[in-house]
Order: sequence, then C-alpha cells, then structure tokens
Amino acid sequence: MRLPSQPAVGLDFGTTNTSLARVAPDGAVQLAQFGPEAAATPSFRSLLLFARDGQQGVHSFAGPAAIARYLAAEDGPRRLIQSLKSYLSSRTLTATEVFGRRYTVEDLLARILREVRTEAAGRFRAPVERAVVGRPVRFVGAQSEADEQFALGRLREACLRAGFTEVHFEYEPVGAACAYEATLDHEELVLIGDFGGGTSDFSLLRVGPGLGGAGRVLGTGGVGLAGDAFDARLVRHLVSPALGLGSLERSGGKLLPAVPAWLYTNLERWHTLSFLRTRNVAEILKGAEVRALEPEKIRALQALIDEDLGFPLHRAIGRLKYNLSAAEAAEFRFDEGGLALRIPVTRAQFEGWIAEELAAIENAVASLLATTGVAPEAVDRVFLTGGTSFVPAVERIFTSRFRPGCVLRGEAFTAVAYGLALRAEQAF
Ligand SMILES: Nc1ncnc2c1ncn2[C@@H]1O[C@H](COP(=O)(O)OP(=O)(O)OP(=O)(O)O)[C@@H](O)[C@H]1O
Ligand SMILES: [Mg+2]
Repeated sequence: MRLPSQPAVGLDFGTTNTSLARVAPDGAVQLAQFGPEAAATPSFRSLLLFARDGQQGVHSFAGPAAIARYLAAEDGPRRLIQSLKSYLSSRTLTATEVFGRRYTVEDLLARILREVRTEAAGRFRAPVERAVVGRPVRFVGAQSEADEQFALGRLREACLRAGFTEVHFEYEPVGAACAYEATLDHEELVLIGDFGGGTSDFSLLRVGPGLGGAGRVLGTGGVGLAGDAFDARLVRHLVSPALGLGSLERSGGKLLPAVPAWLYTNLERWHTLSFLRTRNVAEILKGAEVRALEPEKIRALQALIDEDLGFPLHRAIGRLKYNLSAAEAAEFRFDEGGLALRIPVTRAQFEGWIAEELAAIENAVASLLATTGVAPEAVDRVFLTGGTSFVPAVERIFTSRFRPGCVLRGEAFTAVAYGLALRAEQAF
C-alpha cells in the first residue's frame, strides 16, 4: 500500500525572523503561528539563548521563548546568539564555546529550526518534514561560488539535524515572486526586492497564471548587506561617540585617541559586544579612564560591556530606525545599566550614514538590469518585501528609477514563506 504523499512546507529562515507556511488541505496557504496563543505571530525571531542554572545545567531556548526568558532577567549566566545566518559562509567561524561546551554553527542553527519545525507541526497537526527552504542570492560574506555552496551545505545540514528529511532550496526573492504571482490574472514582468536583516536580494521574472510558479526567471542578484549593516552605522555615529570614540587623552604633551578604534567595531554588531569581555580590554579601558579628557564616556563603555547590554542597545537602535522610517526625525533613547542616552536624529542624517550601503544596493539593481538587458520602463511591477524595505531611502531607489506607481509592497515578514509554500506544492 502506498501512503499518500506527505505535504511539503515553505521555510524562510531569516537572519532576524523565520517563517513557515504550507498549502493546507483546503488549498489555502496557511502560515504557522508561533509563541503563546494570545500573542501568536507568524514570525519567529531567529535567536537562541543559552542559560545556565546551578542544578540542572545548561538549557537552550529559541525564538519567543528565548526573548521571554531573557527579559524575565532571571539570575544566572546567559548567552544570546543572533544573526547566525550571516556566519554560514564563514570558514573561520565553525563553532563557538558556550559555558565550556563547543557548538558548531550547524548545531546552533538546528536548535532554532527544530523549534520552528515542531511548533509548526503542532499548529498544523501534521508532520513538517519536507521543505522548500529559501536561500539568499548572495550569502553575507560569500566571496565566491564555492563560499555560496559551503553556506548552502551547512544550511542543509542544519535542516537535517532539525528533523527535516528532504530539503530543496529556492532563491528567497523567487519565493516572494510566487506570492505575488498568486494575486495575478495576467502576465507581468516583475522585479522583486527582498530587504532583510542580513541580505538584499533581487529577481527579475516573468510571472502570471499558467506560468507554473514564478514563471521564467530572467536573472537574480544581491548584496550581502541590509538592516544589520544600517544598525552598525547607527551605532558608529550615535552610540560610539557617546562611549568615547574620538575622545582624546593627553600623553607626553600630545593629544591621542583614548581608546583604540577597533574596540568600537565590536560594538557595531550586537553579538560581538561579548567579545569585549576580556581582561585585555578591561586593562585598556582602565588606563584610558585615568588619562582621558572625558573619563565618564570610558566608564559608560565599561558599564555597557560589564552588564552585557548588547541586546537592549540594539533593540533601542532598531526602535530608532523604525521611527525614522515613519517620521523625518526621531530621538535615540537608551536607558539601561546607568547609561542614559537621548540623541535627536534626522532621517537625512541617517541616510547620509548609510550612503555607502544604499549605493551598493543601487549598483546591484543596475547590474541586474544591465546583465538581463531589461530597461526600467519594461518592468511592469516592482514588488518589495522584507523589513528593511520600510526604509524610505531603500524604497526611493525603486520609485526614482521605475515607472510611476509601479512599486508595490508585499507582506514584509511573510511573503517569502508564503510563496515558498506554493513552490513546495509544485516541487514535491
Ligand atoms: N519599520 C522598519 N523600518 C526599518 N527597518 C525595519 C523596519 N521593520 C523591520 N526592519 C528591519 O528589517 C530587518 C528584518 O527584516 P526581515 O525579517 O525581512 O529579515 P530576515 O528575513 O530575517 O533577514 P534576511 O532575509 O536578510 O535573512 C531588521 O534589520 C529590522 O531592523
Ligand atoms: Mg528574509
């Protein structure tokens, strides 16, 4: 007897948020919901928390449970891990030590994906084992096709360890295209832009009913930078100066930087803040505090490191960024661990700080058009998705280049998983 074939799902494992969808038995696309019933959402924060408690040893928590546990501020040492997807292409980062035990990147990822898979299976009341999994066009940090393949191999391994039995990859923007295509009753030439936490990805395709799911792909392109890179710029320009970047000390009649600049680059990616908890850094800061002309800034930096405030700091940066998407000016506010910062920021300033990243995105769009030989006027529709597509300067790259009125916004956090679910139905 043959068993009926098991339905496959679409999985969008994101740098910041993960979502999963399936085509339900009634034919409708259904997004898995995560977290407590009363506050369930279709996006699962891609983070992992290790907590050590005296008697029972080390436990890990993923997604909403990790955030809840972290915010509950229970005593005992903890370590929060985020933006793991950005390490997939790195051959130097293969493992990390947490409370004396070594975990590979695949192990860490599998812990997140297993939670996503089992929660989704519970909600669907059906096994979640076969999946079409999204992949960025360019992984963060990948320099060559070999790096892309290396990253994919690790992502596949993590999926298998998480309990998926069969995995097919599809470009994330092609997933988004399938979601858009499902709304069409005619053919169109569309440019998809998916701007997430780690990467910005593009696809140019002909879509429409009867084209068999994301029709004909004319080309794909991308850059390994997005929202996390914008956050890094905000930290550099707002937070680091308040913590002594550019501050001086008097040394032998000369004025010199009080703290070496490399130390501040670890502040820019929230998870590398913990790299600063070393004796060497503590010594540097102790010396700097004695000699610096603004010792209070050095003390504030030491407090941030000692109290491991990377997560609240980057949450505050995130809030500022969202506010600058909605208004021309906003205030950066951080009030944690005795450190109180209130700094007004304009959208124009922010756009100046991310000019290099915006130029890289613009170049990637231009080169996709050039390599496919498609003129901007020939594009019927630009479909934008991903959290970073809310940044007005990102949207402007498209509104300024393509036909008026053709830029459309999809569901920012779920369009990719939705489309991958449709793709899964065809693939299996
Ligand atoms: N309103 C907003 N304005 C600006 N940025 C935002 C807004 N909302 C979310 N973001 C940013 O969007 C990013 C997350 O978007 P998304 O969930 O689409 O990414 P992801 O799918 O996890 O990442 P990736 O696709 O790169 O792997 C974060 O950098 C977040 O700060
Ligand atoms: Mg994404």
